[in-house]
Amino acid sequence: MTSEIPLQAVEELLLSVTRSAVPLLSETTAHILSAGGKRLRPRLVLLAYAAAGGTNIDEAVPLAAAVEIIHTATLVHDDINDHGTLRRGRETVNSRWGSTFALLTGDFMFTKTYEIMAPQPAELNRILARAATQLVEGETLQIQAARQGTLDRDTYYEIIARKTAALFVACTELGATAAGAPPEWVEALSTYAFNLGLAFQIVDDILDLIGDEQTLGKNAGMDLAQGRGLGAVRDDSNAPDALPATALQVTSDTAGGPFKESLLADHSLETAIALGRAKAQELVERALASLDILPPSPAVEELRHLARQVISRDR
Ligand code: FPP
Ligand code: MG
Repeated sequence: MTSEIPLQAVEELLLSVTRSAVPLLSETTAHILSAGGKRLRPRLVLLAYAAAGGTNIDEAVPLAAAVEIIHTATLVHDDINDHGTLRRGRETVNSRWGSTFALLTGDFMFTKTYEIMAPQPAELNRILARAATQLVEGETLQIQAARQGTLDRDTYYEIIARKTAALFVACTELGATAAGAPPEWVEALSTYAFNLGLAFQIVDDILDLIGDEQTLGKNAGMDLAQGRGLGAVRDDSNAPDALPATALQVTSDTAGGPFKESLLADHSLETAIALGRAKAQELVERALASLDILPPSPAVEELRHLARQVISRDR
């Protein structure tokens, strides 16, 4: 069973809303938006709307476009912060146009979400605004921890909850709220999205350590070099699922081929990856279980499918 969701309408809205009287901004936004991407977040909005019993899915299209635009804006800014050169299989905006225009491109896209959200009810605006704040907080905590050279397990979870899971939660809250779902359904979908978001970021961090740049369509092997991500977690606690301490002393000039191989030979990093995988699996199980209270539908089935894909993905 598959659920019919209007992703094409989202694509069209994404491109039409980011057209600008200033050609450079149309060019930079089209460069990143038309490069594809998994469109996971718009899918979550549309599927949550359908799973929550919404009857006019077209009304969820602007919400789906708004989250994808915010998400893409954060990637453009993140690539400035992380010195990324490859995104969605293309040169990053900062690489091609420089960090000043990349900063402005992210700003432009971020402000465009106001335009999309302006006609929407206040509650939906509040949901998205809260998530946008958390994204900035997550990225800030991450950079702060990297600069201090200390990343413990709790801080790692706090970072990924804010920089990734918060927007996943906003997606399902937007969809379910727009559908007029009862609070317990909104709650169930939020629990699904939160756990899925954490799992997604853990897998993302694993892929940064072991993934292939060409398949990923973005830089790999940069997290450890820059003191962040799963492999950078230091944890002195004896808690059973504590992530082990790993080498943080790696410097940025060691990023790349031999760097990855030598670290993968490092037992503690292998252990961190194995624990990360187990944790992601456990979080996905939790996400799946939370869907059980929803009435069966093709959309719920697709949400389950999507959760399993998060674990098995290689990009
Ligand atoms: C990617 O993480 C980055 C994020 C999930 C959030 C980034 C947030 C900001 C830059 C601040 C918010 C900005 C706006 C416009 C609201 P990653 O570096 O782990 O993933 P990657 O491997 O895909 O680069
Ligand atoms: Mg990054």
